[in-house]
Amino acid sequence: MRIVRLKKIIPPLLLAGLLGGAATVAMAQGNAAAPAATTAAQDQPWLNPALAAEERAALALAAMTQDEKKLLVFGHFGSALKYKNYMPPKEVRMGSAGYVAGIARLGIPPQYLTDAGVGVATQRESLAPYLERTSLPAGIATAATWNPALAEQGGAMIGREARASGFNVMLAGGINLVREPRNGRNFEYGGEDPWLAATMVAAQIKGIQSNQIISTIKHFALNAQETGRFVLDARIAEDQARMSDLLAFEIAIEKGQPHSVMCAYNRYNGPYACESDFLLNQVLKKDWAYPGYVMSDWGAVHSTAPAANAGLDQESGYIFDKKPYFGPQLLGKALKDGSIPQARLDDMVRRILRALFASGAVDNPVSVQPIDYGAHALVTQADAEEGIVLLKNDGNVLPLAASAKRIAVIGGHADKGVLSGGGSSTVFARGGNPVPGLGPKDFPGPIVYHPSAPLEAIRRRSGDVRFDPGTDVAAAAKLAAESDLVILFANQWTGEALDFPLTLPDGQDALIAAVAKANPKIVVVLQSGGPVLMPWLAQVPAVLEAWYPGTRGGEAIARVLYGEVDATGRLPVTFPQSLDQLPRPVLDGTDQKPDVSFPVTYSEGAAVGYKWFDLKGHKPLFAFGHGLSYTSFAYEGLAAEMTTDGLKLRARVTNKGSRHGSAVPQFYIGPAPGVTAGWEAPHRLVGFDKLALAPGESRQVEVTIDPRLLATYDSTAKGWKISGGTYQVQLARSAVDFVQQADVTLPARQWPAAKQGK
Ligand code: BGC
Repeated sequence: MRIVRLKKIIPPLLLAGLLGGAATVAMAQGNAAAPAATTAAQDQPWLNPALAAEERAALALAAMTQDEKKLLVFGHFGSALKYKNYMPPKEVRMGSAGYVAGIARLGIPPQYLTDAGVGVATQRESLAPYLERTSLPAGIATAATWNPALAEQGGAMIGREARASGFNVMLAGGINLVREPRNGRNFEYGGEDPWLAATMVAAQIKGIQSNQIISTIKHFALNAQETGRFVLDARIAEDQARMSDLLAFEIAIEKGQPHSVMCAYNRYNGPYACESDFLLNQVLKKDWAYPGYVMSDWGAVHSTAPAANAGLDQESGYIFDKKPYFGPQLLGKALKDGSIPQARLDDMVRRILRALFASGAVDNPVSVQPIDYGAHALVTQADAEEGIVLLKNDGNVLPLAASAKRIAVIGGHADKGVLSGGGSSTVFARGGNPVPGLGPKDFPGPIVYHPSAPLEAIRRRSGDVRFDPGTDVAAAAKLAAESDLVILFANQWTGEALDFPLTLPDGQDALIAAVAKANPKIVVVLQSGGPVLMPWLAQVPAVLEAWYPGTRGGEAIARVLYGEVDATGRLPVTFPQSLDQLPRPVLDGTDQKPDVSFPVTYSEGAAVGYKWFDLKGHKPLFAFGHGLSYTSFAYEGLAAEMTTDGLKLRARVTNKGSRHGSAVPQFYIGPAPGVTAGWEAPHRLVGFDKLALAPGESRQVEVTIDPRLLATYDSTAKGWKISGGTYQVQLARSAVDFVQQADVTLPARQWPAAKQGK
């Protein structure tokens, strides 16, 4: 595997020389542009917050010179890169993802860009000291909460830290569906289902933007694997894309209203995503009437006029692109020779300005401020607790009694901290990395742990707890045999630019098997970025999937282990039993020459994840939607009703146990046998809820179904179509655990994809 976006570790001495102290100065600076309130005057009407963002953008645009316009569409990487001999402009927040110059005379602030979905990251190429910030659990963990309110709170928290770190653009909002469970970035995304992913990611975006900054949904589109990501051509028919990955973007954009969309590295059915007229102009801007701007991924631009004319509004991470395609020279030339019309440049600038006005980034400029880390720790902990999924709990091994005696904690650096995912999104831990020196030296390494040690949290709850690192199988097994109960931590680090096998690394499968043999009372706690295979599952009574649980992960894991909170996470992704159950048992592109484009045919079409399993009759290891609770719930009273608002589904959920807990009732729909609806798979998730219920408490759930989830896309008619007939609604605990069924008759309906037709 080749990582084109190479990152180098630079020795501190060289660093000081290269920087000349610029980093700290840059971080301490306030905003270069004066706050709107102080410069607003009659002659600068675009600074009047009472006007609509569109109007303000038009007014500001009219006041701009051609050179000023060019400034806004060209972004610089925000860190020095020795291997490219690159030093960013001195105004950057050194160590950041990017910087776009502002126009001080017009009160337009610079754009300060930071990654990403779990919090304020620092680029590893950085010559500046890493920012140490609060990390949320991985995106996939947040998706596993099935609780959009929590996702929104998490977004609001990291957005607050972004603002207080001097950033007004957060590159968060990863929503590529998990088509490929080996994808090294699955941890950044919202799982495999369009409705769940869109609901959760939109909530996070809303939270981030509540801080009057811009959030960026990404990577548009079909960036489903990292192997060959810069060159691969994702082949999937339009109708199938519209019913899967594009649908996730469409719904998330509607619900979350991100001010920016980041186009992806890969090609889609031919052209690069960042110069795809189909994706950018036709689908995003025309059909979806998207008013924001399209920024490029870092190194995803390949041309000037073709990209601009296809709908790319900003080259955001120049230095990773081969040329400064949207830089003043190349852009100027294209404007001069007419290959880019002036109206197109104006549209690009207008969209960026609109985002700056609509977000509040102009009216409330960012500056470096103190951060309430104590309060933020509680937000990330709540998210982590709800995202942890109890996969198996035979004989109710969990929750642990506080009286549990002689506990062996084994493996996974549980004495030091919790794992996080690698790449541009990595948030460096407050208090430093307690397990330094692991993983690739270059990007996407190193492996970063957060200093929230599960061992310490367990020790705070039980008296006799001994630890073994798990590096010597015999020693670990011996400790297990001498203990009453074992908690074994098994980790798989994943990261950007790489894909990973589904097998736990470093002989951990053998370790688990040996320890389980020595003491069958064992709980396995997994920290992984997505599904892993579990050859030892039959030997292990309890398994908890903790993902990458963030800044307070150790505490969150302990709280779930001890039942201080219910286990309320549910899988946002299918765990396969084996690779041959996947649409592509062998990952495409593994032996590919770098820079040579190759096709990846997504033959599963819209049948992503559980839909594929359902279609093929594969039995997963753990199904999408699966997750156990410490209490038990009755699901009943399923009713379906067509109303003027659309299809409504209702059910009643009752906590039948003696503990407080949270249920996640799920609704799936499929065409009844004999109805030719053209669906990609027998069932789709169409709605869900999460209900916290006291013992004996009973509540009604009601969801209104988005009609696109009942429809197929017709690429000839350019619209959606519901085939009239009988459909079966399932009230379910997971994609394979249907509790109740009801029939509903859907009237035939058709409507255009373009928004005005809806
Ligand atoms: C990633 C983006 C990220 C950008 C800036 C790229 O390599 O694909 O997700 O936002 O870098 O760091």
